[in-house]
Amino acid sequence: MEKQVDFKPGLEGVIASETAISFLDVEQEEIVLRGYDLIELAEKKTYLDIVYLLLNQKLPTHEERLYLEEQLKKEYDIPEAITEIFKRLPKQTHPMDALRTGLSALAGFDPKLNDRSEEANLEKAFRLLAKIPNIVANSYHVLHDEKTYEPKQELSFSANFLYMITGKVPTELEETIFDQSLAVYSEHEMPNSTFTARVIASTLSDIYGALTGAVASLKGHLHGGANEAVMYMLLEAKTEDGFQKLLTEKLANKERIMGFGHRVYMKKMDPRAMLMKKALKKLSAEKNREDLFAMCELGENLMREEKGLYPNLDYYAAPVYYLLNIPIELYTPIFFASRTVGLGAHVIEQHSHNRLFRPRVNYTGPRKLHP
Ligand code: SDX
Repeated sequence: MEKQVDFKPGLEGVIASETAISFLDVEQEEIVLRGYDLIELAEKKTYLDIVYLLLNQKLPTHEERLYLEEQLKKEYDIPEAITEIFKRLPKQTHPMDALRTGLSALAGFDPKLNDRSEEANLEKAFRLLAKIPNIVANSYHVLHDEKTYEPKQELSFSANFLYMITGKVPTELEETIFDQSLAVYSEHEMPNSTFTARVIASTLSDIYGALTGAVASLKGHLHGGANEAVMYMLLEAKTEDGFQKLLTEKLANKERIMGFGHRVYMKKMDPRAMLMKKALKKLSAEKNREDLFAMCELGENLMREEKGLYPNLDYYAAPVYYLLNIPIELYTPIFFASRTVGLGAHVIEQHSHNRLFRPRVNYTGPRKLHP
């Protein structure tokens, strides 16, 4: 059988969908979100402005954004039964697995689970956006036999998310930087987890199932799990010298260095990493941890010089989260919580004009055998 010429391992460079949601314009170094530049949005607007844009296809007025925040606050609570499930999970359960479990269990409580209309899907995406920060924060506290935190209605969406994780009301700088991290994690075209969600949605399965699959995908260290791995690497290195030695060793062993490289950006720096690097510079000065910033910059320079590789968002988001006193195991769940809005927008788009994903293969096994 002749080898089909159009096989691309890992679907590299293959166009899998048409979408009006986002596009990585590598030439222009622009992450396009419904016509806007994500970095400009992250610098001038808030995460909830981006939520409104992704789900309603336009930026909100100030009143529309306030109304969105008020509506989200009404949906923060999660069913007691979900908390009971967390109490029964083995203590060593990873927070991404707790999130996957909690998200999946939420499906049974949604009266519109099987309604795939745009209106019902928007409502479900909204409910998930409101409840997932509560699941992320409090499943962690339950698994660690710690006090759980009721959402604080008087705080903003981002400040409340950070408060439920750390138990402390964030300072203005902490809130601004955390909100900016949610903004840059919100949507990024067709990464593995978004593709997973669209593939599941294309069978007309529901949004909860699509996002449950996306959690499993995002957990992998080649994808969302990289931010957690970056922080463990920085803590292992301890100092600039230690990091220089560790990176050199890893490269000599042909290991992948977490936080570097990107299927789409290849030989360019992820624009989101540049923004988080600026945030880390500010936060590390505020927290008297300029040593951490210097270490990260050393790693960036070494990887560029030795391997021609550049940081991706996870490389600079990890130390930012560390200085915000976020437990390392929650870095990827936070990434998912932010990306809930992008995933929701993609499931809505997939359901609104669907075509079942069913690719073919190049068969390399034997033929015409007989038992
Ligand atoms: C995210 O897709 C998205 O948009 C994802 C994301 C999003 O917002 O959703 O941006 C979030 O997942 C960011 C990526 C986080 N992952 C990591 O930081 C893990 C480390 N990175 C690598 O595993 C890798 O760079 C990938 C997985 C991100 C991309 O890998 P590719 O496109 O499959 O590239 P490749 O494996 O073919 O590597 C090409 C070459 C290889 O050299 P050779 O073997 O050909 O000599 O580059 C080397 C690789 O060895 N290389 C690395 C490297 N990444 C690539 N070498 C060392 N360390 C690395 N990190």
